Amino acid sequence: MPDINPTPKSAEDFVSSFAYPISYIERLPKPSHNYVSDFFELTRLRTSEKNLSDLSASQLSDLLWYAAKVIDTHYQDNGYILSHRPSPSAGARHPIDLLIINPSENPVFQYYNPFEHSLNNLKLNEDLFTDFVTHINDNIPVGKGTVIWLIAHVNRTSAKYDNPASLVWRDAGALLQILQMTATAMNLGSCPFGTLADPFINKLFADAAIISCGGIIIGNNLQL
Ligand SMILES: Cc1cc2nc3c(=O)[nH]c(=O)nc-3n(C[C@H](O)[C@H](O)[C@H](O)COP(=O)(O)O)c2cc1C
Repeated sequence: MPDINPTPKSAEDFVSSFAYPISYIERLPKPSHNYVSDFFELTRLRTSEKNLSDLSASQLSDLLWYAAKVIDTHYQDNGYILSHRPSPSAGARHPIDLLIINPSENPVFQYYNPFEHSLNNLKLNEDLFTDFVTHINDNIPVGKGTVIWLIAHVNRTSAKYDNPASLVWRDAGALLQILQMTATAMNLGSCPFGTLADPFINKLFADAAIISCGGIIIGNNLQL
């Protein structure tokens, strides 16, 4: 049996920073709304719902702030930035970045920068955007919902650990959980996607070190 246990390498590899092809940066505000929730009630309320309407800009901003924004950083001597965020990550490496997709409003992929709390429009192949949206619509009809897609830069974790794959997938699960719990606390509906949208994410970045880890749709609950 091969050894699947992740183990720290004796010497950490260097990770070069990834430059997203950014065409426009929108700095997001701090939350202005005071959300109050009982955690133990939230664990009872959390559910997956797919019949969703659009999020306001401030709801999306607040969701990202509470679920994904960096809270604290630690600069390693080799230049790698470890971070503390709402979800745990093996070795504090946080290999997973978030892409925001709101097909009914803005037909582009946006990268969420969790260090500066900003949305960044990406200049990527427009046909692939259309193909990606068509594909995920076959899994869960997106309508006016907002999609958050998880993409892992595996080299951030493999630089430190042998057998890194399970660490990245467990990070993805933790991130999906905090996104859904935060949506619940904000009285929003959400549902994870089963598809990985392969091969669209790979084609988008043409970088073997970037893999899709699935996504989640979030929106306001439609009154039935
Ligand atoms: C990784 C993952 C993938 C999922 N994929 C889908 C999906 O493709 N379509 C869907 O309707 N629900 C999907 N779900 C939602 C589950 O079906 C849902 O969590 C399950 O039915 C239990 O319902 P609950 O979340 O309300 O407790 C997914 C959930 C997870 C965690």
